[in-house]
Amino acid sequence: MLVSASSAASAESRSQRGAIVFNESGCRHCHTIRNVGGKKGPDLSSAGRILTKDRMRQQIIQGGAQMPAFGDALDEQELANLLAYLHSCRDKKKKGN
Ligand code: HEC
Repeated sequence: MLVSASSAASAESRSQRGAIVFNESGCRHCHTIRNVGGKKGPDLSSAGRILTKDRMRQQIIQGGAQMPAFGDALDEQELANLLAYLHSCRDKKKKGN
């Protein structure tokens, strides 16, 4: 994987751009983050606490049983931003859940 020098953008702006990728790529159609989104896939509000970036990257590129693969839809920069965003989603699980 190539990592360009320009990826030194601040983590905050990367995750903000990743949130836009999340909306525009249709992730939110199936996944809820912080009470907004669909229910087909698991809630990703605490994905950053539970999953490694490598695990998330693999899921996004390859898809899963019920999730389409996004390897062709996203370029490396979009993927990096998306992973930064998901990594920042670290909500604690609600009680009784
Ligand atoms: C058509 C519905 C759908 C879309 C669109 C979708 N997903 Fe998923 N996703 C799922 C389902 C269902 C799962 C559960 C595992 C499986 O079936 O692959 C999942 C699993 C995941 C997981 C692993 C969650 C865990 O707890 O293991 C991540 C991370 C993820 N998706 C991220 C994304 C991202 C990022 C996008 C957009 C690029 C996206 N998904 C688009 C349905 C979807």
